[in-house]
Amino acid sequence: MDLEVTDVTKAYGATPVLAGIDLAIGSGEFVAVLGPSGSGKTTLLRVIAGFERADAGVVRVHGETVDDATTFVPAERRHVGYVPQEGSLFPHLTVAQNVGFGLPHRERRGARVAELLSLVGLADLGRRYPHELSGGQQQRVALARGLAIDPRLVLLDEPFSSLDAGLRAALRTDVRRVIREAGATAVLVTHDQDEALSLADRVAVIRDGRIAQCDTPERLYAHPATPELARQFGEVNLLAGTARDGRVVTALGDLNVAGNVKPGAVWVLVRPEQVVVDGSGGPAHAEVLDTEFYGHDAVVRLRPETPGAPCLLARVANPSLLPARGERVALRVAGPVVAWPQGPEEDALQARPA
Ligand SMILES: Nc1ncnc2c1ncn2[C@@H]1O[C@H](COP(=O)(O)OP(=O)(O)OP(=O)(O)O)[C@@H](O)[C@H]1O
Ligand SMILES: [Mg+2]
Repeated sequence: MDLEVTDVTKAYGATPVLAGIDLAIGSGEFVAVLGPSGSGKTTLLRVIAGFERADAGVVRVHGETVDDATTFVPAERRHVGYVPQEGSLFPHLTVAQNVGFGLPHRERRGARVAELLSLVGLADLGRRYPHELSGGQQQRVALARGLAIDPRLVLLDEPFSSLDAGLRAALRTDVRRVIREAGATAVLVTHDQDEALSLADRVAVIRDGRIAQCDTPERLYAHPATPELARQFGEVNLLAGTARDGRVVTALGDLNVAGNVKPGAVWVLVRPEQVVVDGSGGPAHAEVLDTEFYGHDAVVRLRPETPGAPCLLARVANPSLLPARGERVALRVAGPVVAWPQGPEEDALQARPA
């Protein structure tokens, strides 16, 4: 493991921010940490980099303990590349000097600085000073500086947030490529879920100071740990059901369950693309309430005739087969589905309209 964070807590005064973070990242992995503003993402990166000390827990970098109850290795000896959220460039140094700052003296004017500057699209601006750059350009200088020491572990704190959409997408791809080519391990903090899903090998979602789930984008979508996470990554239908013998009984028929679920009352996740209304029949019927056409696909809102079934969203992959509003359609659910034991939290979510 290149990075192991074990049960790390951190509070500012009486305010707990990190409440027991566990995160293990393998060599060469690119992991996105996703969470809303104020959820502790920057705090976590600062603890890993060594700019803050954890209140409790252990941080290990490249197998070495750098922070625990008795050890604290200072930031400059962790060999971790850090790209802070706000530029934080040295105002009295040129762009090239900023990028080369962490390098040994003899390398500061060398090819490495030029290479990094061209990587971030600033090849011609090496002689400028930070105040002569736009916010986005400053951020790219900070990115180049974070990569300059050729670190095995790079921490990126929302490095694309002040860039416009086009530049953002281009730089994103570049950063991904450079980090992969360098064989470095990366932790990228973001509150943009599309960025996290499209860029990362795994996404760690912070909730209430803990990692609620850390998984590949595909697993986060297909096997979310909670209904709340299911809602965060795509549209959902939640059905009540009863689990028994590896299946769930719902108002829309008996469905196969992915994984194990304890027998009893459950909530069942049915993604809109699992609701099939292609005319091939099914155990239930529904009225089409409305349709939304998106070209590549369409979304249909359905009111099932079965008592106890909530309104459903269905995604129709072939919009030429789109039923009309008011039409009566047969429907079935293509399994397997994810099911969670029913609890108070899910009750509240279920009550919320989709
Ligand atoms: N030095 C500090 N002193 C006191 N409170 C702090 C300090 N730094 C951060 N906080 C508080 O800790 C919480 C987490 O802050 P943090 O900067 O880690 O959040 P974040 O997830 O990075 O948010 P954002 O997406 O807005 O950057 C916030 O409530 C913040 O106000
Ligand atoms: Mg932050």
